[in-house]
Amino acid sequence: MSVAKPLPHDAARLHVTGAARYTDDVPTPKGTLHLAFGLSRVARGRLTDLDLSAVRAAPGVVDVLTAEDLPAANDVSPSAHDEPLLSEGSVHYLGQPLFAVVAETHLAARYAATLGKASYEEETPILTIEEALAADSRFEEGPRVYSKGDVAEALTDAPHRVSGSLTLGGQEHFYLEGQAAVALPQDSGDMIVHCSTQHPTEIQHKVAEALGVPFAFVRVEVRRMGGGFGGKESQGNALAVACAVAAARTGRPCKMRYDRDDDMIITGKRHDFRIDYEVGFDDAGRLLGVDFTHYVRCGWAMDLSLPVADRAMLHSDNAYNLPTARITSHRLKTNMQSATAFRGFGGPQGMVGIERVMDHVAHYLSLDPLRVRQENFYASGGPLGEVRGTKKLGTTPYGMEVTDSVIAELVEALAKRSDYAARREAVARWNAANPVLKRGIALTPVKFGISFTLTHLNQAGALVHVYADGSIHLNHGGTEMGQGLFQKVAQVAADRFGVGMEAVRITATDTAKVPNTSATAASSGSDLNGMAVKAACDTIRDRMAEHLAQLYQTKPSAISFTDGRVRAGQEEMSFGEAAALCYQGRVSLSATGFYKTPDIEWDRIKGHGRPFFYFAYGASVSEVVVDTLTGENRILRTDIIHDAGRSLNPALDKGQVEGAFVQGAGWLTMEELVWDAKGALKTHAPSTYKIPAASDRPKIFNVSLWNGENPSDTIYKSKAVGEPPFMHGISVFLALSDALASGNDYPALDAPATPERLLKTWQQCS
Ligand code: MTE
Ligand code: MOS
Repeated sequence: MSVAKPLPHDAARLHVTGAARYTDDVPTPKGTLHLAFGLSRVARGRLTDLDLSAVRAAPGVVDVLTAEDLPAANDVSPSAHDEPLLSEGSVHYLGQPLFAVVAETHLAARYAATLGKASYEEETPILTIEEALAADSRFEEGPRVYSKGDVAEALTDAPHRVSGSLTLGGQEHFYLEGQAAVALPQDSGDMIVHCSTQHPTEIQHKVAEALGVPFAFVRVEVRRMGGGFGGKESQGNALAVACAVAAARTGRPCKMRYDRDDDMIITGKRHDFRIDYEVGFDDAGRLLGVDFTHYVRCGWAMDLSLPVADRAMLHSDNAYNLPTARITSHRLKTNMQSATAFRGFGGPQGMVGIERVMDHVAHYLSLDPLRVRQENFYASGGPLGEVRGTKKLGTTPYGMEVTDSVIAELVEALAKRSDYAARREAVARWNAANPVLKRGIALTPVKFGISFTLTHLNQAGALVHVYADGSIHLNHGGTEMGQGLFQKVAQVAADRFGVGMEAVRITATDTAKVPNTSATAASSGSDLNGMAVKAACDTIRDRMAEHLAQLYQTKPSAISFTDGRVRAGQEEMSFGEAAALCYQGRVSLSATGFYKTPDIEWDRIKGHGRPFFYFAYGASVSEVVVDTLTGENRILRTDIIHDAGRSLNPALDKGQVEGAFVQGAGWLTMEELVWDAKGALKTHAPSTYKIPAASDRPKIFNVSLWNGENPSDTIYKSKAVGEPPFMHGISVFLALSDALASGNDYPALDAPATPERLLKTWQQCS
């Protein structure tokens, strides 16, 4: 068995030795040209003049493109066709590409791009949530509303009520490898594109539309990304399209990579939110009615904002069975970078809302917040929907019954293992004795829905070849961004053929091998592609078994594939010998595989259905200390138990949990995006935008996987793991808030909880 083994990442050695090849490392042919964008210096207005004479005259410049020079579509949007590659005269954010320089070198292109002289008729930009609301600037006509039961009545009848508001900042992806693309023109108008993208098929479509050719003219290849985190679902389109258009015009290979500052100024980030809440509850802290209003800052173009805002609504219950709930979501259009996918895809924002509510209710009732959470958990489900115990299962605010919850028992295990109760008392004693350094502790659960909410995206394909020597060439539609997808899927292939990992060759993602793929996103990479690969492998294995059975006068079911050996009755041979025999017997040793997720249906307008195949669960408990004179703080200890089902690879999955937690904590504590009053992003480099360093991780960090299998029929009963653990970072945010709760009033802490914000909140509530 090669599944369930804690094997290292297939490229781990290459990563740490610097030998791993990224898009920028793909050797380019002689004569390759380099691109850079000239950017808008205002956030909103009209271009009255664009003087590019100095750009054209700059050393090394070969060509300069504006919107008029584009041969066909001027659009890089993944959704509403509202995102021109180059401005057609109107300007929507500071940093919007106006023109593209094509030059002999990367530096020549970048230098020339600064020489454009644009004149604008400036308009007042819409930047804040309040400004967008006042201008009624939005992406859907009115707000979207999902609801369950009569919330108004529940609030009126409830013994207690609290209300509040919190803001959540956005987040820069800060993938270590920036956006990059290379376009290689072929004869007859074909184009090959190498690109750092989570979505090769969309790059293929956008490039084809821009060139005015059928999809089949374009082939996109991605070996790996140096991180994507959602920032390479749609944000790579502009570079690939620009390179392809320039390559078609000049007949020369074209390459583009953003400098880090440009990358941060041009590309979209996580959506920032304001969440208002009103909640009614009883003496035990059981929620009776919850009313959320989400204000979502989407930036200038639609991009993926609607499904992101939907997912925030779909996670407003988190792990709690709310008898009545209403979630209202405003998708606001503003003159800044178009916010995009980022790990969790809106889920984290929705989840922070209800976790804040839990803490607020506990503070109001002077109860342990963990008690309040436990009062409200969804009842436990059992294997394959068989219900354990007698409690009625809960229903989400969007009408999906939760049948697979393990949150109650998982949290109980975590509370015990982390010694939560004793440490909570110790924190209280510490705070009573220490006027300056305040400690806080919080335990937060995660329940995250797995599947794309756009149902048709839940499909995947694979292409597997067995060569006559028994070596296996593996390809599927998923992309590798460091998460370990390729290794996990290769483990599946090795297991199906009963061979060692060395027999399976992992290859680059290629739109010419597997067509019509979905983005590697929504954490569904191994669920979807693992199943597609399994199907392809089983097709080949069945053909081999049938041939060998005929050859050795036995039944196909009597042919076994284990430990690199194939056994047919008395006969035994290596997998390679079996492959050679099948080749000689004229058996096809190549197959495609296909998978689509069963049992899901969703109406995003009504807000009703079963959008998710299953849920992934987990919980974390963090303890922090805050210096109330400076706001400085540290994570002292974090314990996490995370449910990856029957893990395909516990080492990689643990790595995902650790990394996701740190990234989640970074979002809610130290990563801060600042725009000035003109809409200029002031935090556009690591000098001003601080992501967590290794030294910011918890001093004590205990991560383990929940021991249980997925009751749903997934690949080897595993669960998706890419995004769910991001939300364990919420325990750090609420532990910081808990540290401040040793004052008098409820600390209405906003995120990111930077030292400045902690200090301000402490002064307000103490
Ligand atoms: N892990 C690493 N190392 N790098 C990444 O870019 N992206 C995350 C997550 N884990 C990411 C990562 C995001 S946003 C998603 S949706 C999933 O991986 C995608 O991969 P999967 O579906 O194979 O889990
Ligand atoms: Mo992940 S945000 O779904 O790419």
